[in-house]
Amino acid sequence: MAKVKTTFFCQNCGAQYAKWQGQCNSCKQWNTIAEEVIQKPEKNDWKPSSSTTKRVSKPLKINEIDTAKEARLNMQDAEFNRVLGGGMVQGSLTLLGGEPGIGKSTLLLQVALSLPYKTLYVSGEESQKQIKMRAERINPKENNCYILTETKTQNIFKQIEAVEPDLVIIDSIQTLHSDYIESSAGSISQIKECTTELIKFAKETATPVLLIGHITKDGHIAGPKILEHMVDTVLQFEGDRNHVFRILRAHKNRFGSTNELGIYEMQGSGLREVSNPSEILISEKDGELSGNAIAATLEGLRPLMIEVQALVSTAVYGTPQRSATGFNAKRLNMLLAVLEKRAGFRLGAKDVFLNITGGITVDDPAIDLAVVASILSSNEDVALPSDYCFAAEVGLSGEIRPVQRVEQRILEAEKLGFSTIFVSKYNKITFKNPSIKVQLISKIEDLVDFLV
Ligand code: TYD
Ligand code: MG
Repeated sequence: MAKVKTTFFCQNCGAQYAKWQGQCNSCKQWNTIAEEVIQKPEKNDWKPSSSTTKRVSKPLKINEIDTAKEARLNMQDAEFNRVLGGGMVQGSLTLLGGEPGIGKSTLLLQVALSLPYKTLYVSGEESQKQIKMRAERINPKENNCYILTETKTQNIFKQIEAVEPDLVIIDSIQTLHSDYIESSAGSISQIKECTTELIKFAKETATPVLLIGHITKDGHIAGPKILEHMVDTVLQFEGDRNHVFRILRAHKNRFGSTNELGIYEMQGSGLREVSNPSEILISEKDGELSGNAIAATLEGLRPLMIEVQALVSTAVYGTPQRSATGFNAKRLNMLLAVLEKRAGFRLGAKDVFLNITGGITVDDPAIDLAVVASILSSNEDVALPSDYCFAAEVGLSGEIRPVQRVEQRILEAEKLGFSTIFVSKYNKITFKNPSIKVQLISKIEDLVDFLV
């Protein structure tokens, strides 16, 4: 009997060892090294037959390469296209990561159902019946989508040869296994091998492949880091499961910018593209309420108006509570300290709660001014006019600092009918006669004078 070959892999970084050890030398994590059985391939793995080889590559001079031919598949979904950088590039491998239940399978099935091209949706997670039921909720009209439930890569390639799809979707890479590796599905060596086979297939046949990847509890895509290096594009689908909004963003994109962002709303009948997110992120209300302020932020390249809510109340316990949802708690403490020191507000004995509505997390520093305004408004119990908005960073000495692309923010605020936007005096604003009033301020005291 042939000797079984085993190797030890770090489950965190994918480093390989001949024998077990407690700590991984390369990523310094403890207890991450596990034994996996490996069998060297006797024959070469994925061998495209001439029928599926649509393109054979040969060396070309760089100026002979025709970039116009970098054909992109239109995904029939404006948000998805934008995040990909204008559609899916032929022969590319895209990895979509996200927490369980966030809607990865829904998104890709929905895309597959709307495409006019032939797509093959391979699922190792759900049965064909389950997928059919989901497809019925999404309610497609005519479609050209084939469903396959299979986890062995060799069988998948056989079916691909039979169907000859224009796009392959794999749900998920962690359920695949290849015959050439004996360790269980989802292990480092299996993920590596299956991805290598898929890359080879994608490049040789110019067929784009979309992979779904699970993420670990600390938010990284499960499996070796090398997985993210191997694929061309890494997309992340995120959002709070209890909220309806989902954000699709690119973490790596060999064919476009990583600044773009797609916003979806989860509905009973699948995901709906949200083309004007600002209108939805600002909550509907009848009267003006104290503690609410609107920030003109940018998410990637898109302007986004976001509502900040603060609640300031007298502390019941000895230590006042500070809590922030969707905003960095340390930054909140810093802003409170600035308000106390520079504007004389006694917030030390107050509980302060801050919430960004819509369940999204913002790291644009331009939201600072809206946070300060909402805290002031709640503290004084005076409502801010609902057609005011804010876009500036607040510095440690209480100075109002300029933010990038302020004109884009002003234009968005103007478009949405705001009457006044507060920005830093140090921002260079060149355009003339906006219908919105641009209020320039330089110190936190200026804001206090306006609001209180
Ligand atoms: P799913 O795509 O299965 O998540 P993932 O593949 O990322 O694990 O998402 C499932 C969730 O989406 C589930 O909790 C129900 C919800 N959902 C809807 O609200 N509407 C729908 O039309 C569908 C198909 C799912
Ligand atoms: Mg799924």
